[in-house]
Amino acid sequence: MRKLNVAIIGYGRSGCDIHGAFLRSPANDICTVVAVVENDPARAAVAREHFGCDTYRSYKDLFERSDLDFVVDASYSDLHYPITKDLLAHGLNVLCEKPLCKTPEMVQDLIDTAKANNVIFTIFHQYRFNDYYIKMHELLQQKVIGDIKLVRACQNSFSRRYDWQTLLYRDAGSMRNNAAHSIEQIMHLAGSDEMPKIQSKMDIWNSVGDAEDYLFCTLEYSDGVRYEMEVNPSDAFAQDAATFTIYGSRGTMRVYIDKIVYRYYLDEEVPVPVLQHKSIHHPDGSPAYCNNQLVWHEESLEFDEDIWSSFATCSNRFYHNWYDALVNGAELFIKPEHIKAQIAIFCEIERQNPLEVKFKKPDDVI
Ligand SMILES: NC(=O)c1ccc[n+]([C@@H]2O[C@H](COP(=O)([O-])OP(=O)(O)OC[C@H]3O[C@@H](n4cnc5c(N)ncnc54)[C@H](O)[C@@H]3O)[C@@H](O)[C@H]2O)c1
Repeated sequence: MRKLNVAIIGYGRSGCDIHGAFLRSPANDICTVVAVVENDPARAAVAREHFGCDTYRSYKDLFERSDLDFVVDASYSDLHYPITKDLLAHGLNVLCEKPLCKTPEMVQDLIDTAKANNVIFTIFHQYRFNDYYIKMHELLQQKVIGDIKLVRACQNSFSRRYDWQTLLYRDAGSMRNNAAHSIEQIMHLAGSDEMPKIQSKMDIWNSVGDAEDYLFCTLEYSDGVRYEMEVNPSDAFAQDAATFTIYGSRGTMRVYIDKIVYRYYLDEEVPVPVLQHKSIHHPDGSPAYCNNQLVWHEESLEFDEDIWSSFATCSNRFYHNWYDALVNGAELFIKPEHIKAQIAIFCEIERQNPLEVKFKKPDDVI
């Protein structure tokens, strides 16, 4: 199998611990890291140790090379758009971290730039490659809990963040950072890139920056299904919370990173309720409540995953799809047009919750 030459921009939590972790692992039979761009000399030294690759302080040095098959843009979120645009304009394929950019117009500009330069790009939304998500989607398609009425997605924690992911000038905050993954999954569950009806609340609860750390939103699609998304930084019981809770006409499903549990009844095992206009009573005449005589079934599935192994699984699957797209022209797992629709949702939530920019980038920060 031909290996592709890759450069990584930014060797931090994403560049080193997610992309780098996959690229260093035995599961990587498809790419060779030939360059890392990292402003921090200590992190650049780690990258040289990991890959024996060239390192640079500026991504513009990559334009001197002619051996790159693609570039991973794992820089700060606000730098994704200008750097990715420049890379595409220089004829380089790009795998860009989320969030791609601020507005749908910027996404369109990147789509046009890629087209004009005969290259492709994708966005690293890898969460749909999780085992729990693949199985949950399959079960819901089989209607094991009937018709879906309400889906609750939760990314709670007890969190008091103080890093750049709390700063508006960096395009940070819990929506574009955390909820972005769940909203992408929700769009896939809804099977639509339409603009849903949105009600939302964003706020700053525990973080010291000016970007939101609390988000609650309801997305209602034209088929009537409602999706709720919560990122709550004051949940000290978050370890018990399901990643998804799905309410259906015949049951309920709880989905965690390492297991799915669902409880349901079967139509053929229970009587069809007949509407009673008068008060209902037991055979002895005493007042009664509705008794559906439901026969409950419960099933569960377990996955051998924790947060880090799930990152490894998803990266492996994502990179193999990306490889297939670059080498064999396969369909992209994450298409830029889909992310354009997602970013339109972000903009609507921000329109409903204007936040005040309180901090300016210091001169010694890139
Ligand atoms: N898909 C995911 O699951 C996932 C997970 C974590 C982070 N991310 C995304 O990855 C991006 C990076 O986040 P992080 O948590 O890794 O940040 P980080 O602060 O841990 O690391 C960023 C690194 O990039 C370097 N850097 C940034 N811009 C640079 C530039 N122009 N030139 C040279 N070096 C540069 C910094 O020096 C730093 O070492 C963010 O956009 C974030 O949203 C995605």
